[in-house]
Amino acid sequence: MRIASAQQMRQLDQAAIRERGIPSDQLMERAAAALAETAMDLAGTAGSGPFRAVCFCGGGNNGGDGVACARLLLEAGYEVRCILVGSREKLTADTRTMEARLAAAGGRLECFAPDDAEFAAWCLEARVMVDALFGIGLNTPLRGDALTAVHMMNTSAIPVVSADLPSGVEADTGRVLGAAVQAAATVTFTLPKAGHFVGKGGVCTGKLVVADIGIPRELVDALECPIRTVEAADVILPRRARDAHKGDFGKVYLLGGSVGYTGAPVLAAQAAVRTGAGLVTVGVPAPVWPIAAAKLDEAMPHPLPADKEGRLSLEAGALALEKLCSCGVCLIGPGLGRGNGTYAVVRQLLREARLPVVLDADGINALEGHIDVLDARQGLFTVLTPHDGEFARLGGDLSGGDRLGAALDFARRHGCCLVLKGHCTITAFPDGSAFLNTTGNPGMAKGGSGDVLGGMILALLGQGLSARQAVPMAVWLHGAAGDRCAEAAGEYGMTPGDLIRALPGVLNEHVN
Ligand code: ACO
Repeated sequence: MRIASAQQMRQLDQAAIRERGIPSDQLMERAAAALAETAMDLAGTAGSGPFRAVCFCGGGNNGGDGVACARLLLEAGYEVRCILVGSREKLTADTRTMEARLAAAGGRLECFAPDDAEFAAWCLEARVMVDALFGIGLNTPLRGDALTAVHMMNTSAIPVVSADLPSGVEADTGRVLGAAVQAAATVTFTLPKAGHFVGKGGVCTGKLVVADIGIPRELVDALECPIRTVEAADVILPRRARDAHKGDFGKVYLLGGSVGYTGAPVLAAQAAVRTGAGLVTVGVPAPVWPIAAAKLDEAMPHPLPADKEGRLSLEAGALALEKLCSCGVCLIGPGLGRGNGTYAVVRQLLREARLPVVLDADGINALEGHIDVLDARQGLFTVLTPHDGEFARLGGDLSGGDRLGAALDFARRHGCCLVLKGHCTITAFPDGSAFLNTTGNPGMAKGGSGDVLGGMILALLGQGLSARQAVPMAVWLHGAAGDRCAEAAGEYGMTPGDLIRALPGVLNEHVN
């Protein structure tokens, strides 16, 4: 799905209203209809009515959506309290129109009285709450009555549907400004915003519904949207030619492992094989080699010189380089461990290997204080797959809570593809485009999951898919495998090895 910025949404609304003559109150009515439909879904039908609904409305146009929704719920037979959180004097013209329509239907826009015990008691029996405090217009942290209203919704145990965005979530970043509504569902309009997926916003949004409010299709289609989500339909693996041979599916090289981290390169190599790589060569320190060799029937592990701690020593560089130069792409990092010799080998390979490199885990850590090595690879394709800690060590700035902005900035400055792992993994490219991932679950938050992802990216790149296809698709498939495992084994018991075993079924559903 394409993602729109807050500014683009304002421009779209204005173009629809000014250029196409669509009345703004009509847009608001359609937004309210979608909101009311979801509110009624959340309220359910069990028990006897009339059901109660509370609509918290801000003074801007997002509040107008809420006031119109209150009227629709009233007309549907609900008992409704429609509460204005903000100043009556500042109501927008469209919100005033909606207030008049509510009054004509027998309702009333009340001013919020945070200490009103009778209102608090009434709310306890509500079936649903509507959060229409702020949408894309939020620009400062919530305070005062808005904060109190958010607290009331979040502590009520009553399902909340948010209009456009959970109030408190910044549309373009997903940052929470002050506090934010935890919605059961969010009804957004025309196109989703980044804040529905990334950062805390992705958690606050709940189920996302994207409603069409009648903005002309050609206006929407003309928008340039560099940010998009990856959906199942975007994940298409090429069908294999009947006369294909293993050389057609990539010779890939994987450098990893150390004493203490023997499993990481094994998981990555198994994942690469399971994702269809033709030939997988694995370089590991000599003490790790017997273990890798015993575990990897389908890959080709070879021993490399090691230091006395069982990590790669400086002498490993030349040998690894020789091996990887006969491959199309390589993955450096899973389980390498931290050591100056090992880090020097990683940097040597990055400098001298003229092929695409995927860098994970300690491979990424080797760049700490040596980011010039990455910069010097501009033109050669490099993928980095850090989690937040590794990203921060490279100078990535997550302090402001804007993961998407930080990922895009890093990818642009260093000319690389950055896969910032976490809830809603972000794949950012140097040209300012990014893919937001929608699969995966907390059961994947276990050592080894990242190694599996590294192996999958390696395999898809090795099979000749372009970076823009291979990387976001690998991230999506990895999460989809995780979702299967969570269904089968539960989030507690599933393991990274289970992800690899789930891959054939998931991949098979996406072959063209
Ligand atoms: N505390 C208090 N006030 C705040 C805070 C805060 N933390 N943050 C922002 N505000 C204020 C803003 O200053 C602004 O007030 P101002 O206009 O007086 O400066 C107000 O909150 C606006 O907030 P929103 O209601 O979120 O923003 P906006 O009025 O732009 O409406 C919109 C957003 C278009 C309704 C969108 O979220 C939406 O729901 N779209 C659905 C379609 C729709 O209904 N379109 C409306 C058509 S009418 C039209 O476009 C004119």
